[in-house]
Amino acid sequence: MSSLEIRLFSRNEKLNIFNYLSDFLASFNKERCLYNVYFILNEMDKFFNNSILKRAYLYKKGIKVRSYEEYIKYCSEYENDKNDFEADSDYLLALTRNINLSLDLYIDKEDCLCIVYKINILFSGIEKKSIENSMILARQISNIKEALNNGDVLKRIDKNIYSAFIMIKNLGVEISALPLTEKEKKTEIKFGIPLKNLDNFKDDIISEEISKEIQNIPQYPQHILEAIYTLNNPNTNFSGISAIIKKDPAMTADLLKLANSPLYLPNRKVESIEEAVRTIGIKYIKNVVIFYSTKKIFMNKYNLNLIKNIMKHCQEVAFYSNELAAKLKKDKELKENAFICGMLHDFGKIIVNSVKPGLIDSINDLCLKNGMNSFSVESIISGYNHSVIGSKLSEKWNFPEFLYEAMRYHHIPHDYRIKNKEVVYTVYLADAIYYYLRNTADFENIDGKILEYFDFQDKNSFKEYCDTIFERYEEFEDKI
Ligand SMILES: [Fe+2]
Ligand SMILES: [Fe+2]
Repeated sequence: MSSLEIRLFSRNEKLNIFNYLSDFLASFNKERCLYNVYFILNEMDKFFNNSILKRAYLYKKGIKVRSYEEYIKYCSEYENDKNDFEADSDYLLALTRNINLSLDLYIDKEDCLCIVYKINILFSGIEKKSIENSMILARQISNIKEALNNGDVLKRIDKNIYSAFIMIKNLGVEISALPLTEKEKKTEIKFGIPLKNLDNFKDDIISEEISKEIQNIPQYPQHILEAIYTLNNPNTNFSGISAIIKKDPAMTADLLKLANSPLYLPNRKVESIEEAVRTIGIKYIKNVVIFYSTKKIFMNKYNLNLIKNIMKHCQEVAFYSNELAAKLKKDKELKENAFICGMLHDFGKIIVNSVKPGLIDSINDLCLKNGMNSFSVESIISGYNHSVIGSKLSEKWNFPEFLYEAMRYHHIPHDYRIKNKEVVYTVYLADAIYYYLRNTADFENIDGKILEYFDFQDKNSFKEYCDTIFERYEEFEDKI
C-alpha cells in the first residue's frame, strides 16, 4: 500500500528555499526572524499539498461537493482516512505533473518582505470560503492558547493556512482581506511583512509569571559551586575532586552508578569515587556535577510527577546524542558534551509545566492531530517557549556556552548565533529520532541539512539506524 503523499516542492527544493531564505534575511540583517518566516513557508507548503490531496481524495471517492458544510464533512473524513487511503499513484502523479507551484521572495517598494505563491489551479468557491474562514478565525484570536480551547472551530478550517495567518499576525501584520488573486487559470497568494516589523521582533520574551518562577529557583548550593570552581582549575587532581564529591552522598551514589553504567563499560565494578572520577574522566566530571545538581534542585522544588516524563524523555535523547556524537567522530569531548545537553535540553518544559500545567501537552496534542510543528506553535504563544525558558535558567546558573546553546537552539539548529554547531545538531537530531521512533515525526520533516551532516543518505538507512539505537537504548534502560 502506498501512502497518500505528494510533494509539490521536493525535499531538495525545500532545502534550497530554506538556504535561500536564510541568506536573503541575512543580507537585510533580519536573521533573527528566519524560523518565523520559514514557519509561514512551511505551513503554506503543507497547505498546497493538502489542498491537492483533498481534491484527489474526493475524485477517487467520486464525490461532488455541493456546499461548504459538505466540504467540511468530507475534509474531516479525509483527515481520518488519509493514512489508510490507498492512493491512486498514477492519478496523483498525473495530477502533480500538471501542477506548477512557484514561490517568489522579494522586497517591494514599500520595504515589505513579499512572499508570493503562484499555482496553476483555481480554487473553487467552497475552497476559498475555507481559506477565508481560516483568515477570519486567525484575526479573531489573540493567541494560539485560545485556539487550543476551540477544538470545534478548528475542525471547520484549514489548519495550515490558519497557522500561517497566525504567524503573520504575530509578526505585526493585520490581515484585512483574503490575499488571493486569480489570473488566467492561475492563483496567486501574496503576503507582505514590513521589514520594520522584523526589526522589532523579539525572540526571547518570557512571560512575567515564568520570569518570577525562574527567580524563585534557587542558586546552586555552595559546595557545588566550589566543586565547579575546583574543576575549572587546570591543576585539579583526582583526590581533590573526589574529596569535594564525597561531601554529597547522593551525588556520590549517582556517580558510582553512572561509572558502572553501559555508557562507560568499565572492565570491573567501580567501587570508589576516585575510580569513578578516573572512569568518567577529570574533564567531564563537571558535566556530571552540573547534571546531578540541576536534577536535585528540580526534584526538591517540583513534584515528581511534573518532572518524571520530561526526565525520561531527556534521558533517552541524551543516550541518542551520545550515539550520534560517536557516529560523527571519535571525540570524547563531543560525546560527553552532547550527553549532558541531551539530559538537560528540555528542562525549560518543567518550568512551563509548573506555571501552566497541561499547556505543553495540549500544544503537542494539537500539533499531532494537525501535523503542525510544536516548537513553532510554542513560539507563537508569546512567553512560553521552553527553549527560551531553559536558556534563561542556563544564564542564571552560568552554564557553559555549549549547554546554553543546546537548550536555546535545539529546535532551531540553524540560528545564526550558534557557535557550537556540532552539539546543537546532535541534540536536534537525537530529539527528532525520539519522536520519529514513536511515529510522531516524519522523516520528511527532519532537517535535511542535518541528516546530511550525519551522513544519512536516505529514509531506509535512517530507519535502520534508529531501530538499532532504540534496541541499544532498551538494553541501557534495563541496566540503569
Ligand atoms: Fe525541546
Ligand atoms: Fe525534547
